[in-house]
Amino acid sequence: MKILSRELGKLFEAAAMAAFPELSPEQVLKFVTLEKPADTMHGDYACPAPLRLSKILGKNPQDIALAIIEKLPKDYRYDSVEFARPGFINLKLSKDFLEEELKQLEGGFSVEGHVSDKPVIIEYSGTNAAKAMQVHHLITTILGQSLSDLYEFMGYEVIRINHLGDWGTHFGKLIYAVETWGDRSDIERNPNAEFLRLYVKFNTEAEKNPELENEARKIFKALEDGDELRMAMWNWMVKESLEDLTKIFVRLGVHFDHIMGESFYLKMADEILEDGKKRGLFVEGEGGALIYNMGGDKVPALIQKSDGTTLYLTRDVATVKYRVETWHPASILYVVDVAQSLHFEQDFAISKALGYVEDSKLEHISFGRMSFADAAMSSRKGNVILVDDLLEEAVKRAGVLSAAKAGEMPREELARVKEIVGIASIKYGILSQDRVKNLIFDWDKMITLEGNSAPYLLYSYARANSILEKAGVELTGMPRLSDPLEIDLVRQMLKFPEVLEAALNERKPHIIATFLYELCQSFNHFYGKCRVGDDRNRLGLVRAFMHELKTGLTILGIPVLAKM
Ligand code: ARG
Repeated sequence: MKILSRELGKLFEAAAMAAFPELSPEQVLKFVTLEKPADTMHGDYACPAPLRLSKILGKNPQDIALAIIEKLPKDYRYDSVEFARPGFINLKLSKDFLEEELKQLEGGFSVEGHVSDKPVIIEYSGTNAAKAMQVHHLITTILGQSLSDLYEFMGYEVIRINHLGDWGTHFGKLIYAVETWGDRSDIERNPNAEFLRLYVKFNTEAEKNPELENEARKIFKALEDGDELRMAMWNWMVKESLEDLTKIFVRLGVHFDHIMGESFYLKMADEILEDGKKRGLFVEGEGGALIYNMGGDKVPALIQKSDGTTLYLTRDVATVKYRVETWHPASILYVVDVAQSLHFEQDFAISKALGYVEDSKLEHISFGRMSFADAAMSSRKGNVILVDDLLEEAVKRAGVLSAAKAGEMPREELARVKEIVGIASIKYGILSQDRVKNLIFDWDKMITLEGNSAPYLLYSYARANSILEKAGVELTGMPRLSDPLEIDLVRQMLKFPEVLEAALNERKPHIIATFLYELCQSFNHFYGKCRVGDDRNRLGLVRAFMHELKTGLTILGIPVLAKM
């Protein structure tokens, strides 16, 4: 399908240009757009150009509107184009066109793809090896996967990378803890939980005996210097931990093209430090550390510690260099917690100053913190809520929704449905919220058959599916629309390409979720009022609805269910 606001927008641009040759192409592009009308009663699109151009042209909006309308070609796709106060042109799609589009939608949903010779790198998850996955990691993992799927659906080539946190001072602490209190077979049985326990143990012990911090620092220094025994230990820990993490990735249906640890970039650190020093960008700070001045009254960025070990930031600058040299991406998107905004500001500034960025765009796709509606959960600190536990709890709670079906479904089928609904609820609970705001985690809102939730959407799909299964009619010939409810449903469905584009432009999957939720509401309303039975036209609507819902849910990482 085409992105209609863009397709029809071109006609408006040409008409405005013909009516007002004094406008520059830039002005036309900027002011002559097609947008969602305030009220769909007034049409499918509204062009605000007359209002916006009034000052520039020194004419009243109505005259501008009429002049543009006069230059618009006759086109079967719309049947009314009218001036509306205070300065809009409203356009209404024709029934012929809606029927033609519906026919296409009955066969499936796709969007005319984006063409570019450069890939987009989307970095997400950034889970830490030998540490349990935390709630903010769950958010980036789900959000990043969905954004990648969206980009790919829209025709982009995407390179998905998990920037695994497998390096850093915490490994000094962990190795100390494993050597002192760890048990190999306990760790191998339950790696990340055990690493977490040992890490917490280290911190409690270090509070009593600060000397431990020193020991840990020495171990990390030995690691950075390539000490063989310590490296062997580190290798084993990362391997065990990653295998454990992979179970969660599989369960979430998440995948990466590359899992590359921070350690991978270590070998480039010296070169970067030298480079920066040579150019006078990295200067000596307190106690022999190296810093980069961010300018103004911003805090300087620390790029090398006084003991000579590298930092998270150093490794990230190396990462930019490596990615740009290797893939020449159009852009690199970092899906990471808002708490790291300063870090990325520094990373991007340094990488640019060193000339590593070429013409790639670097973007921090940040998201808010998660707060828990559940009192017991919110009283625990965020870092003690384990992702494994959340997933288990979700599946258990999803069981309640399908309990009524227990008699109708074979046992294994029921278990599969519970797993899908549980995981889907968590994903949707995250993806349906505007990522830049703080996120709320509320079981009652996520796992319910009512309201903006995964179970409601999945249920709407399963219901549509059962309508189709019962019907015995083939969808041949052109569908014909007559009832206003049918017509409105198609009009709503034709907005999907634009919704996907907006979600991509803003990097916000919740825009898709909101659309799907509203579409399900309209569909359920239509279904409540219009008998479908064997009506070919209405069955066409059911089919089209299912294609869109399935497409949208798939982009949100949620598989549909034939029965629920
Ligand atoms: N491992 C980091 C953390 O847990 C996140 C990594 C984000 N990505 C990056 N390129 N720095 O906080």
